[in-house]
Amino acid sequence: MIYRSWMKKQGIPSYEFESGKPIIGICNTWSEYTPCNSHFRDLAQFVKNGVFEAGGFPVEFPVMSLGETLIKPTAMLYRNLASMDVEESIRANPMDGVVLLCGCDKTTPSLVMGACSVNLPTLVVSGGPMLTGKFRGKNISTSDVWRFNDEYRSGNMTNDQLKMAENGLCRSDGHCAVMGTASTMASMVESLGLSLPGCAAIPAPDTARKVMAQQSGLRIVEMVKENLTMDKVLTREAFENAIKVNAAIGGSTNFVIHLLAIAGRIGVPLTLNDFDVHSRDIPLVANLQPSGSYFMEDMYYAGGLPAVMRELLPKLNRECITISGKTVKENVQNAECYNREIISTLDKPFNPTSGIVVLKGNLCEDGAVLKPSAATPALMKHKGKAVVFETIEDYKNRIDDKDLDVDETSVLVLKNVGPKGYPGMPEVGNMGLPPKVLNKGIHDMVRISDGRMSGTGFGTVVLHATPEAAAGGNFAVVKSGDVIELDVEKRILKLHVSDEELAKRKKEWKPLPPASDRGYVSMYIKTVEQADKGADLDFLKGGSGGEVTRDSH
Ligand code: FES
Repeated sequence: MIYRSWMKKQGIPSYEFESGKPIIGICNTWSEYTPCNSHFRDLAQFVKNGVFEAGGFPVEFPVMSLGETLIKPTAMLYRNLASMDVEESIRANPMDGVVLLCGCDKTTPSLVMGACSVNLPTLVVSGGPMLTGKFRGKNISTSDVWRFNDEYRSGNMTNDQLKMAENGLCRSDGHCAVMGTASTMASMVESLGLSLPGCAAIPAPDTARKVMAQQSGLRIVEMVKENLTMDKVLTREAFENAIKVNAAIGGSTNFVIHLLAIAGRIGVPLTLNDFDVHSRDIPLVANLQPSGSYFMEDMYYAGGLPAVMRELLPKLNRECITISGKTVKENVQNAECYNREIISTLDKPFNPTSGIVVLKGNLCEDGAVLKPSAATPALMKHKGKAVVFETIEDYKNRIDDKDLDVDETSVLVLKNVGPKGYPGMPEVGNMGLPPKVLNKGIHDMVRISDGRMSGTGFGTVVLHATPEAAAGGNFAVVKSGDVIELDVEKRILKLHVSDEELAKRKKEWKPLPPASDRGYVSMYIKTVEQADKGADLDFLKGGSGGEVTRDSH
């Protein structure tokens, strides 16, 4: 009675409780603070329609929603917190299966991580990309924010033009329209086998997105009957597929951190090295910004992710089972490409180099990553003097200084923006160049940090240097004037300073005071793992299943 009576006030008739229907939770990240997910109440209704149609009973519930642009200091600080909300909401409430509505960057990994720790039959519906932006007759995207910012700072763009660009950037519902982190995450879940084929690229306002949501509602009810739990889909082979697909589409570097964290939750052993090994022979197949020229909307018209995966089939683990109930091969073997300008073949790729390169050396003893398809080829082998910024505030205070001792051969180094140093590891790794370099018409330099970069960012940017400065490795003691060598081909990131000198500097090194001594942030700083492990909280690894063993009622 206590279960039924309160539910009935929502207008649910008695027979619904006697039918034995599978209960499908619809985990919704709708929020007006997350504009990329603003259409999710509508989308949820279509999922519900499908659940009803298949004979299930849908129950929608909200979880913490992480809007990339507004949340301070960075949405990534709360990815793990949101994942706890998702995990406990799924476990604590009665549900047999769950549909995750994911869109803006961190809403995808946080929901998938939380759901993995419960391991019910789970299906992801992504919200879809927004329509391509427009500015003075040209196609633009949120990736151009960085370019416009540089143009404005160097005086080549007026304030009015900046406003006009701002008005044309985000024209519809949906997440960022390039292969930024949100599109990367939507592609990640599809390539892992957690979404129905074709889900990732459908633009948010397209009617096909609603149909996809309805079909997903239908399918989750079948999944419950088949007991197709997440661990059956998320095998080691599925993770390898996701790494390969990410390389072929030029996905965001944030993919590394999120996939490692998801693997940690579902219990699949995955290391940083796997990203280099499995993406090494995968060329760039999708011609999408920021690595290429086009947008997610174009990718959908060209055949979407299934057309990319069909090209990759010879290199994929084809027999992995997916939430469709079919294998990867069965899902994509008949997918067609309608535009080779946007989705190329393996033989004639847009760029033979892609994927995520994992660098090693005395500047990053546990690794660092670089996305070669977004970098300048001439800078992939480079030696230069470091210009070191101790914190992001130090960078902001000095980067526009005309007396800063820097030129285009310098290597910009930004410390203390790692998981612990700037809790949440903000996306500041692709720091803007100094005006004295920009004014020469130069738009890229080697930049190194222990932070992350937006998936919409680009440049010769080394990220996730581990151990981070706040953890006291060699990265903590690099100084301006030190010579740094980057050799992407050889996977080397070397600080040309003797071991003796580094040991001496480390003895004198003192960590910065922690950013907070209370609440969630304090717990985060104490328990967050390094970037090479996925930056999850150490006690959240693994899962507790779906059972609640003690019940007070
Ligand atoms: Fe939400 Fe880019 S800000 S996806």
